[in-house]
Amino acid sequence: MSVLEISKMGHPVLRRRAREVEDPASPEIRTLCADMVETMRAAEGVGLAAPQVFQPLRIMVFFAPPESSQSGDPMEIAPLTTLINPVLEILDPAHDVDWEGCLSIPGLRGLVPRARHIRYSGLTPKGERVTREAKGLHARVVQHEYDHLEGVLYLDRMPDLMSLAFESELVHESAGR
Ligand code: NI
Repeated sequence: MSVLEISKMGHPVLRRRAREVEDPASPEIRTLCADMVETMRAAEGVGLAAPQVFQPLRIMVFFAPPESSQSGDPMEIAPLTTLINPVLEILDPAHDVDWEGCLSIPGLRGLVPRARHIRYSGLTPKGERVTREAKGLHARVVQHEYDHLEGVLYLDRMPDLMSLAFESELVHESAGR
């Protein structure tokens, strides 16, 4: 396994619709999935999509740790998951607003509205189909990574750029809460 280079905003691979994986069981795809997990971990992210490692393919990896859930609702928690050719369905279009960052836009954070309750499905590298409902950070990270497969970045989802800030300055924000 290897840690891959991460594409940064401005590279066209992040602005194209990624294409379906034709053979999810191929050794090349298995290697790419493993490398994406290692790259996400090395970068200390909670999600990564294949265009972020310069591969215009519909693959994403993510997790939602229990400590990120305030309610303890199991739908807010997800183990490390790799999804190939995922599909996404909005179950409750009501939005929650929370901070997001992106490994392709290093150093910045912004407040982004996301649908509160979703269902998603996709294939794992072992060929199993995963179907889950998600809320909280879990729903947020899946929507963020799915957007990468459509060439969309979180900045595009911000109704108000006033909250856009460098992480290093957000200490003032949290101190003011
Ligand atoms: Ni991102």
